[in-house]
Amino acid sequence: MKPMGPLPPAFAHQQGVLTIAGEDAAALVAAYGSPLFVYDLAAVAAQVARFRAAMPEAIGLHYAIKANPFAPLLAAMAPLVDGLDVASGGELECALAVKPATAVSFAGPGKRDDELAAAIAAGATLNIESAGEARRALAAGERLGIAPRAAVRVNPDLELRGSGMKMGGRASPFGIDAEEAAAVVRSLIEGGATWRGFHIFAGSQALDAGALIETQAATLALAARLADAVGAAPPLVNLGGGFGVPYFAGDVALDVERVGGALAEALSRRAEVLADSGFALELGRWLVAEAGVYLTRVVDRKVSRGEIFLVVDGGLHHQLAASGNFGTVVRRNYPLAVGGRMGMAGEEEVSVVGCLCTPLDRLGDRVLLPRTAAGDVVAVFLAGAYGLTASPSAFLGHPAPAEVVVG
Ligand SMILES: Cc1ncc(COP(=O)(O)O)c(C=O)c1O
Repeated sequence: MKPMGPLPPAFAHQQGVLTIAGEDAAALVAAYGSPLFVYDLAAVAAQVARFRAAMPEAIGLHYAIKANPFAPLLAAMAPLVDGLDVASGGELECALAVKPATAVSFAGPGKRDDELAAAIAAGATLNIESAGEARRALAAGERLGIAPRAAVRVNPDLELRGSGMKMGGRASPFGIDAEEAAAVVRSLIEGGATWRGFHIFAGSQALDAGALIETQAATLALAARLADAVGAAPPLVNLGGGFGVPYFAGDVALDVERVGGALAEALSRRAEVLADSGFALELGRWLVAEAGVYLTRVVDRKVSRGEIFLVVDGGLHHQLAASGNFGTVVRRNYPLAVGGRMGMAGEEEVSVVGCLCTPLDRLGDRVLLPRTAAGDVVAVFLAGAYGLTASPSAFLGHPAPAEVVVG
């Protein structure tokens, strides 16, 4: 038997029937079909409220829409946050549909000229990832007769300790090495761009408050050093994000209130050059992961050489991360439950496998579940971030799942 991650708090004490924002999961499947992603908007709003309560007022909240760009969720999220961060021309369009361009920033390597032009024409902020991209953005602005709004994304000379995905402290396709960032800012200003500040993203999926506190303090210090080197104050310092969620057994939820307290303190001690700057954190999964549940029906129950397999109608083509094939080194189990048997003791060890003809398609590996039969609905939790859009949905030609918001 292998352990599963902890059920998110909203589900941990449910008994009997699984409900999502008060709605019966089985009824949702009956109404919308299986497999189905359900996102609880009230849970997302509660998470935003928790962030606001925990963080100093000076910290703006940006939502990285790569975590979940589902249009109804994005529309609900837009008025709750101060900015949207996008990573492609496609995401840019989604963001501009729900938020003014001045509140939209575009990060990511390899922005094509047409994407640069679309952002500049709309008035969104480009987080510039290289000296070459700075030159192409200035050229695109010249062609359009519009000054690009541009921040410089810095590849920091620090890393986020303990983070699942490190994006700093090393050679990187992301951002401009800290040693060269000031020169690129100066070239942007001299080229006629409107300089919007720094974007410094050191990593993601961190559960250790101490590591985040350390990184945020170092990021503030780096921003101050760079501002001194530029000789101008950055209008905005995007301090990155990295707030993680507990996916696996033994994971403990991040103490966001502790991070907020320390950040307030660090801000109060910030260097003079940052006195009038604005600040923001850019979060994806922490805002939406726990609000999403992937529901998938058992098609077949079979026994092979003593191992019980629950074969479901979903799989890694919708929820790649739960199969362990999205950025994890060792495969571990996400939290799972049987829709009609919440709170019941596990009775048998089963593997929950998807309908794809590949051994990679395993949503639960030797987990302990209550007795489950064909027709039952299995819930995969923490499906609100990096679910459908982070999965190879065209692989093997199965139908797309439905997505629905509740709450
Ligand atoms: C620049 C940037 N912003 C935001 C995020 C969102 O990270 P998370 O969903 O872990 O908060 C990422 C993740 O890779 C990122 O690269």
